[in-house]
Amino acid sequence: MPSTRPPLQNHAAIVTGASSGIGLAVAEALANAGDAVAVNYRSQPVPAEELVRRITDRGGRAIAVQADVSQEADVTRLFEEASAAFGRVDLLVSNSGVQKDAAVADMSLADWNTVIDVNLTGQFLCAREAVRRFRAQPAAGRPARSAGAIIAMSSVHEIIPWAGHINYAAAKGGVRMLTRSLAQEVAPDGIRVNAIAPGAIRTPINKEARDSEEALTKLLRLIPYGRIGEPEDVARAAVWLASDDADYVTGTTLFVDGGMSLYPEFRDNG
Ligand code: BGC
Repeated sequence: MPSTRPPLQNHAAIVTGASSGIGLAVAEALANAGDAVAVNYRSQPVPAEELVRRITDRGGRAIAVQADVSQEADVTRLFEEASAAFGRVDLLVSNSGVQKDAAVADMSLADWNTVIDVNLTGQFLCAREAVRRFRAQPAAGRPARSAGAIIAMSSVHEIIPWAGHINYAAAKGGVRMLTRSLAQEVAPDGIRVNAIAPGAIRTPINKEARDSEEALTKLLRLIPYGRIGEPEDVARAAVWLASDDADYVTGTTLFVDGGMSLYPEFRDNG
């Protein structure tokens, strides 16, 4: 008989950048799958606290934690608060990310640094803390087959070059190799490390690219599957990657992009 047990029952997760967009949808989906969730936010407490309330009203466990993932001390505190609240941490979804777009000649060092600090260094700081915690936790009482899992929110731009966004593409290219190298390093500890590469998902980060009819038509030309992705498309992939159903999956990137990374411009060309 199929089990009706929620796939992430008794798990505890940290989701960074969970006050909006993909992070919020992932945190909510994990909670619906039975996970206790630390909802991290940097500057928007209200949606984070509303999400926590929605989860706890349904009988789930959640806390909101303010932290800037590019700051070492903040990251340590984030993990301490999650583990104090839930007794353990089994999953990190390292999702925080920003864009500061400019043509290269106009890109300030500050905008280069901010994107690298949040999108790449933030991933390193969170992953390092997760590995330390996973290794220190006793094997007895583990809710999953793995000793812990990390999901890095990457982007199709971990492989697709993106003019006018070199800071963002450089950071995501870095996330790709961080994920693969770290997976190789910690697999012997029973820790799984994977990435999700979303394409154009309906979130505040790409609002401008969808704002007018003309922009939307242009964007849809890049998506063979013919629609913009929804945050829930990514959230469902995260629940699967976090669960024991993906226990033999490590060091890979799951593209959730409606085919954006399939070079659609080659369909009638080349
Ligand atoms: C970016 C979005 C963009 C999408 C596809 C994402 O990583 O954050 O702004 O729409 O990639 O290009």
